[in-house]
Amino acid sequence: MLSWDDEAAAAPRQPQLPAGAAGEESTAEQVALRVNADDKRIINGKTDVNQLVPFKYKWAWDKYLAGCANHWMPQEVNMQRDIELWKNPNGLSEDERRLVKRNLGFFVTADSLAANNIVLGTYRHITAPECRQYLLRQAFEEAIHTHAYQYIVESLGLDEQEIFNAYNEIKSIRDKDQFLIPFIDTLTDPAFTTGTIENDQKLLKSLIVFACLMEGLFFYVGFTQILALGRQNKMMGAAEQYQYILRDESMHCNFGIDLINTIKLENPQLWTPAFREEIKALFLKAVELEYAYAEDTMPRGVLGLNATMFKGYLRFIANRRAVQIGLEQLFDQDENPFPWMSEMIDLKKERNFFETRVTEYQTGGALNWD
Ligand SMILES: [Fe+2]
Ligand SMILES: [Fe+2]
Repeated sequence: MLSWDDEAAAAPRQPQLPAGAAGEESTAEQVALRVNADDKRIINGKTDVNQLVPFKYKWAWDKYLAGCANHWMPQEVNMQRDIELWKNPNGLSEDERRLVKRNLGFFVTADSLAANNIVLGTYRHITAPECRQYLLRQAFEEAIHTHAYQYIVESLGLDEQEIFNAYNEIKSIRDKDQFLIPFIDTLTDPAFTTGTIENDQKLLKSLIVFACLMEGLFFYVGFTQILALGRQNKMMGAAEQYQYILRDESMHCNFGIDLINTIKLENPQLWTPAFREEIKALFLKAVELEYAYAEDTMPRGVLGLNATMFKGYLRFIANRRAVQIGLEQLFDQDENPFPWMSEMIDLKKERNFFETRVTEYQTGGALNWD
């Protein structure tokens, strides 16, 4: 019996042409219908979204490749030391336990919000297939993040009902989510379509809130807290997971900013002074909400951190995000109170930081982005 390969070797391979098309050249009409990269648009595009190439937005494809090169899975991180520490009555202070629980209370649902926002909202409004390709990868990464938080909750034997309902029951968490939900609702509303200035501005606003304020700001008190525990040799498994998540989120945020800036370039009419004022007000509100969350999770100061230090940090990050999308700095804050956090994003450099096993998924030179 011939295997497929033997058969293939025995007979020269012929491309499978549609019936009646053998040997025929494409007609002038067909050629005219082919995708021309110059015609692609991030929103309101008219080109075929099923044809990934020819590329126009190479930056999106490169980020897709970088995301794949950084693949990881939560259950590969050893949680044994965290479990022992959590079970030991003297392992952590009450303030540290509160911090961990409130921290997970935000994150266990945050990445589901993020995933739903991408899959049910953003994706269908984006008409560049290379950007869609990245969004598919990002959606899977959000699933991995929800998995990681669930895995930590399960490993530590925390009360699942308490943690997963925190976004309904803990005011500082609920307030953050209630700020976000109207912007997610805009994009996921089945009746919402782009194509008018008003709706294109709504889309752009939702993208800015999501990339700059959710992934780019609301995650940062939480990341800093768990990574600060790791720096003190506590909750090292959780800290290792958060470090991978931080790296992913940093890429999501950068992709979102590239997306926003390209939409601005292609649609300059959307970036009006009134629109910019509206965005600035949202930035200020988000900083206020994240600061309230910092105060609630650290009422007395813990791990050498206190809420006041976060005031400067949040202002520093908000400035950076604002400048990245072409706004003026919002605050007089040029110094980063946690310079070690920016090093955390570069996993390669910090791989021995927690002295834990790190699986190196990196398959290409994809760790350098900014
Ligand atoms: Fe995430
Ligand atoms: Fe994300």
